[in-house]
Amino acid sequence: MEEKVQLSYNGQHIEFPLVEGSQGEKAIDIQSLRAQTGLITLDPGYKNTGSCSSAITFLDGEKGILRYRGYDIAALAEKVSFLEVAFLLIFGELPTEEQLTKLQDDIHHESLVDEDIKTILKSFPKSAHPMGVLSSLTSALISFNPSSVDVDSDEDMYKAIVLLMAKFPILCSWAQRKIKGLPLNYADTSLSYTENFAKMMFRMPQQEYTAKPEIIRALNKLLILHADHEQNCSTSTVRIVGSSHAGLFASISAGISALWGPLHGGANQAVIEMLEAIKEDGGDTEKFMAKAKDKNDPFRLMGFGHRVYKNFDPRAKIIKQTADEVLGQLGIEDPILDIAKKLEKQALNDPYFVDRKLYPNVDFYSGIIYRAMGIPTEMFTVMFALGRLPGWIAQWREMRLGKEPIGRPRQIYTGHTERFI
Ligand code: SDX
Repeated sequence: MEEKVQLSYNGQHIEFPLVEGSQGEKAIDIQSLRAQTGLITLDPGYKNTGSCSSAITFLDGEKGILRYRGYDIAALAEKVSFLEVAFLLIFGELPTEEQLTKLQDDIHHESLVDEDIKTILKSFPKSAHPMGVLSSLTSALISFNPSSVDVDSDEDMYKAIVLLMAKFPILCSWAQRKIKGLPLNYADTSLSYTENFAKMMFRMPQQEYTAKPEIIRALNKLLILHADHEQNCSTSTVRIVGSSHAGLFASISAGISALWGPLHGGANQAVIEMLEAIKEDGGDTEKFMAKAKDKNDPFRLMGFGHRVYKNFDPRAKIIKQTADEVLGQLGIEDPILDIAKKLEKQALNDPYFVDRKLYPNVDFYSGIIYRAMGIPTEMFTVMFALGRLPGWIAQWREMRLGKEPIGRPRQIYTGHTERFI
């Protein structure tokens, strides 16, 4: 028997069906609300509103659960490669050896970016933020790959996905090389996806480069942990831009811009800047905790809090452990890791944070690992984007295959009523 919800309004009693997901989550299906009542819902920030049904990622904010296509992220981060997780998210299953080899070969075949993209890159000032460079170059890719726009067949869509998976890490590495004034590296298709990226990021022309295994292991883990997170701000952006049938590259370029914000993916850069500021200020974490709690002070404890997780962000736990491992393996003593741990300990015992269920999120410790790898702070959100790429692609593909209608929310108008000049 289908469960229903009843709304009483204006003397009417209207029923709406309840939708239940595979994990028991329930939603009121209000698709007929306006037609039946003339009413709309109002929910700034969509805190109570589902935009779609999706089979890609499940997260439970109360229990701190995160699974990609049913697999727990801790198991994936330990046992498989980032490219296998990308295949899982996009196509729904972990790849067979044959499928993985085909994807790798197809990516290798496309691991070149048109030389004219360098001309666009050259026009940016060295001071340009790499997220702005990445969003622009991703959009520019369309001009050099026009076939990637109209993806009306599975084959066209697969080709566009491979193009982007192949060229995006090159653009990410070029964004870093640009701000550091270093020569650009080309892909090395003899390496794994993650090793190739590390080499493009760090190889110096005057010497050979072999990535340290601990760096590759940590990078693989970080990329997997960032790969998808259901309907977050940037993924919702990718879905709504794609719902107008803008191409994949244009939709991802919009997602990069959304991720850039300090309340979202830009938080990993803001966390390190905050920890540096606390260190420069003498390391008085209590002073900054007080600022974070002061409503008259715009300061927020960056890397803390989450719209969905009202328990520990499961990614933060793994990243914190990885930070300890990598810094230990590399023999790095980073004082800001100690400051981060001190802040976390104080916050977890402070009623302001406990009452509001504010815990460390994915961005709180990730920057400490990127720093240990020699990645500049302004590049941290580019690293987030590289990890999130397969999730964005998977969500965009699901939206297009599901033939979802163009996204077009309504509003409540509060401006002037009719007036005459
Ligand atoms: C990501 O959505 C996702 O899935 C995103 C993400 C992903 O993988 O895609 O997980 C990645 O974006 C992680 C979040 C990174 N952002 C930050 O670390 C920035 C700092 N955190 C916040 O600004 C905030 O917690 C948000 C933006 C993450 C969530 O904001 P909400 O859900 O809109 O909550 P809110 O701003 O309404 O805060 C509720 C209360 C408020 O206090 P009261 O008005 O109730 O007194 O908590 C307070 C806030 O002032 N609060 C904080 C705080 N975060 C919330 N106070 C101090 N420091 C903070 N960090």
